Amino acid sequence: MVKNSMELGVNTRLAHCGNDPRDFHGFVNPPVVHASTVLFPDSATLVNRAQKYTYGTRGTPTTDALATAIDQLEGSAGTIVVPSGLAAVTVPLLAFSDAGSHVLIVDSVYHPTRHFADTMLKRLGVEVEYYDPRIGACISALMRPNTRVVFTESPASNTFEMQDIPAIAKAAKQAGAVVMMDNTWATPLYFRPLDHGVDISIHAATKYPAGHSDVLLGTVSANEEHWPRLHDGLITLGCCAAPDDVYQVLRGLRTMGVRLEHHSKSALDIAQWLEGRPGVARVLHPALPSHPDHALWKRDFSGSSGIFSVVLAGGGQKQAHAFLDALQIFGLGFSWGGYESLAVPVSLGDRTIAKGPYEGPVIRLQIGLEDVEDLKADIQRGLEAAASAA
Ligand SMILES: Cc1ncc(COP(=O)(O)O)c(C=O)c1O
Repeated sequence: MVKNSMELGVNTRLAHCGNDPRDFHGFVNPPVVHASTVLFPDSATLVNRAQKYTYGTRGTPTTDALATAIDQLEGSAGTIVVPSGLAAVTVPLLAFSDAGSHVLIVDSVYHPTRHFADTMLKRLGVEVEYYDPRIGACISALMRPNTRVVFTESPASNTFEMQDIPAIAKAAKQAGAVVMMDNTWATPLYFRPLDHGVDISIHAATKYPAGHSDVLLGTVSANEEHWPRLHDGLITLGCCAAPDDVYQVLRGLRTMGVRLEHHSKSALDIAQWLEGRPGVARVLHPALPSHPDHALWKRDFSGSSGIFSVVLAGGGQKQAHAFLDALQIFGLGFSWGGYESLAVPVSLGDRTIAKGPYEGPVIRLQIGLEDVEDLKADIQRGLEAAASAA
């Protein structure tokens, strides 16, 4: 039986995806290849680049091991590995847009994606337009003859609206656009974009794949049709990742399934506990039946990860800061997917469509691997401090 067959359980596949130990004398893990120069046996081989590895920027056994693992999880034809999650967004956007083309981006996108589109993409002559995360099939009304890319992210950054990915992908494909998805929240364990009509699946591997808040990395996976251009984009930009970081992420993948299950369970438990608690107006978590897009999440996703937001019942910055400053276990800091819990205030100042209204300050919680009762007690401290600041 093939150890990465889809018939096997996800943890079995995670334990064996990527490298084949027999390629390296049976050692379970692949070597970390630090490389720029690769030698050729003779001038004819060099001139024709007639061997598997030719230069460090073009792939090594270490990057291949991770890319193969991600292909097996995503069901993709090829994966590039880049130095951060943000690079995993910018490299495909650059690779697939042309001057004079039109790009549609979901309004609730990760803020630095928007910043890249509004600055560098616009300077390069690309027309950028934002759309409502809940647009669904109606996106067809926004498609133009020059629409080259439809960029999706589901659930939304910070506010967790779900997108109807199959409907959007269908409409975009009919109009000849490439469909990209930032799939970091779900990981390929809970959603496989290419199975739902997406062409390019993007991950900030910094989050759950790395899992320990000590590595930055991104992966971009393409279907057969779009792999050549994506690969060419990586080679042209020279945006390759460092071998030690690539190795750390491959190492992280082995335990991602068990970690994610714990993150998921704890986050859902805390989200349910928060609903209806004094001082809480709403909980923005798509796996909650109260979430307006719960049916979409249930239809398309097979799980939920460990990050969601809570809307406080009234107040403003003073209450939000009182909540955050009272926390003793949750750290105040950016990113997510690591073993430790984090909280940040959410700013929706960049949005033009998906801006609410919300009843009070929105606070994003990344639920780590700590014990749930300790995390609940910490959040309770925050809610009491916010109430006292009123
Ligand atoms: C949805 C999403 N995509 C991409 C990124 C970027 O990842 P990185 O921090 O590795 O650049 C983040 C980071 O928070 C994110 O939340």
